[in-house]
Amino acid sequence: MTPTELAALHEAHASDPHAFWLEQARRLDWERVPERSGDTSFDRSDFHIRWYEDGSLNLSANCLDRHLPERANDTALVFEPDEPGAGRSVTYAELHDLTCRLANLLKERGVAKGDRVMIYMPMVPEAAAAMLACARIGAVHSVVFGGFSPESLAGRIDDCGARVVVTADEGVRGGKRIPLKANVDAACDLSGAIDTIIVVTRTGGEVTMREGRDLRWEDHCERLSSDCPAEPMAAEDPLFILYTSGSTGKPKGVVHTTGGYAVWVATTFEWVFDPRPGDLYWCTADIGWITGHSYTLYGPLMTGTPTVMFDGVPTYPDASRLWETIDRLGVTILYTAPTAIRALMREGDEPVRKHRRDSLRLLGTVGEPINPEAWRWYHDVVGDGRRAIVDTWWQTETGGVLMTPLPGATSMKPGSATRPLPGIEPLLVDAEGREIRGNDVSGNLCLRGSWPGQMRTVWGDPQRFIDTYFATYPGLYFTGDGCRRDEDGDYWITGRVDDVINVSGHRIGTAEVESALVAHPLVAEAAVVGAPHDLKGQGIHAFVTLNAGEEGGEHIVRELHAEVRKHIGALAIPERIQFARGLPKTRSGKIMRRILRKIAEGQLDQLGDTSTLADPGVVDALVRDR
Ligand code: WT7
Repeated sequence: MTPTELAALHEAHASDPHAFWLEQARRLDWERVPERSGDTSFDRSDFHIRWYEDGSLNLSANCLDRHLPERANDTALVFEPDEPGAGRSVTYAELHDLTCRLANLLKERGVAKGDRVMIYMPMVPEAAAAMLACARIGAVHSVVFGGFSPESLAGRIDDCGARVVVTADEGVRGGKRIPLKANVDAACDLSGAIDTIIVVTRTGGEVTMREGRDLRWEDHCERLSSDCPAEPMAAEDPLFILYTSGSTGKPKGVVHTTGGYAVWVATTFEWVFDPRPGDLYWCTADIGWITGHSYTLYGPLMTGTPTVMFDGVPTYPDASRLWETIDRLGVTILYTAPTAIRALMREGDEPVRKHRRDSLRLLGTVGEPINPEAWRWYHDVVGDGRRAIVDTWWQTETGGVLMTPLPGATSMKPGSATRPLPGIEPLLVDAEGREIRGNDVSGNLCLRGSWPGQMRTVWGDPQRFIDTYFATYPGLYFTGDGCRRDEDGDYWITGRVDDVINVSGHRIGTAEVESALVAHPLVAEAAVVGAPHDLKGQGIHAFVTLNAGEEGGEHIVRELHAEVRKHIGALAIPERIQFARGLPKTRSGKIMRRILRKIAEGQLDQLGDTSTLADPGVVDALVRDR
């Protein structure tokens, strides 16, 4: 994009937002073209968020059918499994076929419009087809990342009331197998509701199949019709639920609806990545996360951009995996996470330099703040100093990117997400809720107004949606992020200001980890905070007090790891568990996390006033045992 084009977009939004948003909607094929744009109010008494309310469309038709007349036999996605080079390309016609058959199987099993379907799968083409099949018949998909435990999966099944799970026999990541079907079986033992499990073969590993409940995809695929009409959906019909961690309680089911989400994802995909004929786009995110939904799958498919589905990890079989794959497939756009960049940077330049990477034209990063050192390495070594980097800031809740430099139009700054996209109005707010104006200032990041991709509600708990995001600063959406606006007016996300920890770009709620830890019979109390980590961005630091008379030690650490793995998944295992005689509490019994955070960060000279604590002595002990 040129600076003039970008300025024109901002200007178009400012002068006539309604026309601007309807214009963006024209990127899609609508069954019924909307005449309304946004209708939103963040007032407690009349809270609503609606976009394109009078329109109807089908997202699977926008990803598949719209491409059939002109490019049925072009590549829609490239499956790149854990084993380098053992993948295959899937055309739009093939993906359409697969999607329709799967949709017909879901229908046979009684899945109807509005029903919820869980997807617990590796990054195989069938996983894409499963999401598209749900969208095709109007079922609401809820993808759960394969790294979550059976208990987490069961919690999500219960929360959204799904009856059907689509899974695979096993996943493979970094050479290791993940027992997906066995995990689903275990989840079903914890939650009674599932009556159908569709099992796709990935490894051919042995699994238990229960008669009447479990179906082998391969046994049914052939007989099913490859024709399944796309159900016209109202723009505000829910498209998916994606669970994400917050500062308190259980994960929230973030609800995105059909029309606005599709418009925002297609729009931002085009603005940010500027897809062109001949592109091969690779976003390394798993479909278990929002990045995988919006930018591995839906964005590329809607815009007809071939997308790589990567079922591996960047460091397997070795540190040149990404670069070798880029050369072998001819990848032109790479979108990945700071944690991956830092892990590869540690391996030095040689694994990168030994591959040409001359197909690449654009690099992207997402998921957490990127430290300038990693940004420079990404730019100078991976990008040979001549490719633009888009540092895209957004959230599960925002559906798509909200802030990023745009190549050609915005100048890049290592570590800054720079400017909001057209239509997005960020502002910084102080602790009292007053807007902080001007430049060279810091505050809590909020957004004024709405955009089509904004989440609509928390599944089953609309009040929690309002309380979580719109209560801190009435009338504004509060992101949970801290942010600096520099002297040029560019934005720098400084990280979460709430009790959410960002470990390798994965959101972990402190309350969830704490409740997993206290599930251990010897644990009296636990408090969890984030601490800076060289590779992961943040690591989890847990302070644990044991029942009177118990001693902490290696074997309890192992048991606590097992608790976290069981209740959440290995991704939430603390980096460090520190046993403590007591936790710093106010006289009214509230744990002072601020002090724990400083101790975990090693900023021992910044503990602040500890004299108001019920027992100031506990702090000395915590500092001593660090
Ligand atoms: C949180 C949202 C958005 C998809 C992946 C994560 C952090 C995300 C950036 C960035 C600085 C970033 C924020 C945000 N974050 N992208 N480019 N620079 N911070 O989605 O799990 O919903 O997490 O990730 O803290 O609030 P998520």
